[in-house]
Amino acid sequence: MSNETNIATDVIQVSHLKVSFLDNHVLKDFTIQLKQGENLIILGASGSGKSVLIKCIIGLMVADSGSIKVFGDEVTELTPEELNKMRAKVGFLFQSNALYDSMTIRENLRFPLIRHWVKNVRETAEELVMEALTNVGLEDTADKFPSELSGGMQKRIALARTLILKPQVILYDEPTAGLDPITGKEICQLMLELQKKYHTSSIIITHDLNCVKIMASRIVMLIDGICYATGTFEELKQLKDKRVTDFFD
Ligand SMILES: Nc1ncnc2c1ncn2[C@@H]1O[C@H](COP(=O)(O)OP(=O)(O)O)[C@@H](O)[C@H]1O
Ligand SMILES: [Mg+2]
Repeated sequence: MSNETNIATDVIQVSHLKVSFLDNHVLKDFTIQLKQGENLIILGASGSGKSVLIKCIIGLMVADSGSIKVFGDEVTELTPEELNKMRAKVGFLFQSNALYDSMTIRENLRFPLIRHWVKNVRETAEELVMEALTNVGLEDTADKFPSELSGGMQKRIALARTLILKPQVILYDEPTAGLDPITGKEICQLMLELQKKYHTSSIIITHDLNCVKIMASRIVMLIDGICYATGTFEELKQLKDKRVTDFFD
């Protein structure tokens, strides 16, 4: 894994990534860097390969060619044990939340702690669970089941579960999809608050312009399988390229 010589390396470096499914060439030559402390937004049409990109970064999917370095380490060269360690440092929040319906909120939050064999888990699990719930303002839900909570509350719990291992990087796949605009905005504000508290870096896939405005340090436009344009919200909005500005109307 990384040593001190990698300190200056980007947190995530994706270079010339190619992913195809038969003749569907999804990512053609995709290159991005995520720097320490940055919130990088990925904008792209439905089916453009945004989720595929995130799955490649955490090693759930293997690209045809190209390179993905996380903390300086090539993801495809990690042993299963190293990959597991990497996943404890890189949290991800799926659109579906992926909460276990048959487990209480407490059990859902304990799950990553057990899975990653966090040291002294028996002594500290309850404390970590309560800290995570306090972070998202839902201290009183520990004994409830996911189905008893609203969509916005379930998203907060999914966020709490992602944060419980104190990841250095978080990958968000459409964190506000399916939520009403006000709840979506609250979730983004919470994401930003927690990002500042824990000094995380993040890649955020979203169509939600409110979320882009709240979170973005920088935006990458994924069009035709490449990083078609990159810049701040204001910079991209002013480009005289309809394929870019269409996203901001
Ligand atoms: N496991 C898979 N097998 C075949 N095709 C896939 C698979 N995963 C994704 N695709 C295709 O890759 C393209 C990009 O998918 P995805 O990354 O999910 O898009 P989005 O940008 O909406 O997240 C789509 O055309 C999708 O059908
Ligand atoms: Mg997707």
